[in-house]
Parts: sequence; C-alpha cells; structure tokens
Amino acid sequence: MSKIIIVYASLTGNTEEMAELIAEGVRSTGAAADLKMVEDCNAVHLLEYDACLLGAYTWGDGELPDEFSDFVDEMKGLNLVGFRAAVFGSGDTSYRLYCAAVDELEQRLREFGAIIVQPPLKVEYGPNPEEKVLCREFGASFAQSLGALHQP
Ligand SMILES: Cc1cc2nc3c(=O)[nH]c(=O)nc-3n(C[C@H](O)[C@H](O)[C@H](O)COP(=O)(O)O)c2cc1C
Repeated sequence: MSKIIIVYASLTGNTEEMAELIAEGVRSTGAAADLKMVEDCNAVHLLEYDACLLGAYTWGDGELPDEFSDFVDEMKGLNLVGFRAAVFGSGDTSYRLYCAAVDELEQRLREFGAIIVQPPLKVEYGPNPEEKVLCREFGASFAQSLGALHQP
C-alpha cells in the first residue's frame, strides 16, 4: 500500500478543502494519506512516504505563502531525486498571476529532483461541486500512478 503525505498552506480554508477532498480520493484507492498543515511539518518527514502532494494558496503578487519558506529551505537539504509529487492550490483569477504559488511549488520540486507525475490542479476560491469531483479524481489518479510502481 502506498503512503502519501499531503502538505498544504491555507489561510481562509479553500486550499484546505481541496486537500481534504484529495485525501479522500487517495484513500478511495486503498492508499494511505496523511494531511499536514505546512507550519506543522518539517520537510524531512517527506522521506517517510512514497510520494507527496503539496498545496498552497497564492499571496501578494503571485507569491508562495510565507508559511512555506522554511519547508522549501528544508527540502533543499533532502535527496528528492525520483521522489513522486504533484501540486495543487487555490487562487483568484482577478490577480495578475493566477495560482502562481502552485507553479512555483512545482518548479521547486523539479529543481530538487522530484518527478511530477501529473499536471497541477488549480481552483478559484473554494471548489464548486464539479471541482470537488476533480479534487477527488486528482488524489485517486495520483495514488493509482504510484500503485503501478508497487507491482512486483
Ligand atoms: C493580499 C492577497 C493577495 C493575493 N494574491 C493572489 C495572487 O497573486 N494570485 C492568485 O491567484 N490569488 C491571489 N490571492 C487570492 C487567494 O489565493 C485566494 O483567495 C485563495 O482562495 C485563498 O486560499 P485559502 O482559502 O486556502 O487561503 C490573493 C489574496 C490576497 C488576500
């Protein structure tokens, strides 16, 4: 059984709601999902898992929230080469750089050697009913892509 950690930053709850739905999707495949707020998680814990999903809202002018700074610094010191990952988050299309923090997280993961197994999931504000389905599918497809790795 794959073990997946989902680490997220959420100020007003939108990214948190996505994270919870994604966790449901992961668990629907029989994989295990642990949900952590980034401020409560040191990146070294990633290495206890088969793969990670990172989520963030976007702040300022297309910036990653400050809560992610320490975590990203900690990731620099890890060997993430070949580690499987994907990213998600909430934003607002009225801003110039829609969900730019999600793209930044993906870029950082790539820099540190992780393999991005599926495209990012971006949602404006909280997920609507269709997007809730997409969140669950995002988690399920991520877990299924790892399941294939565990075949003998
Ligand atoms: C000061 C401020 C700056 C923001 N900057 C951006 C931005 O550059 N790009 C974007 O897509 N959304 C931006 N947002 C919108 C938030 O990312 C959006 O409200 C999101 O749903 C918040 O997610 P959360 O509920 O998980 O905290 C900004 C919001 C605030 C209050």
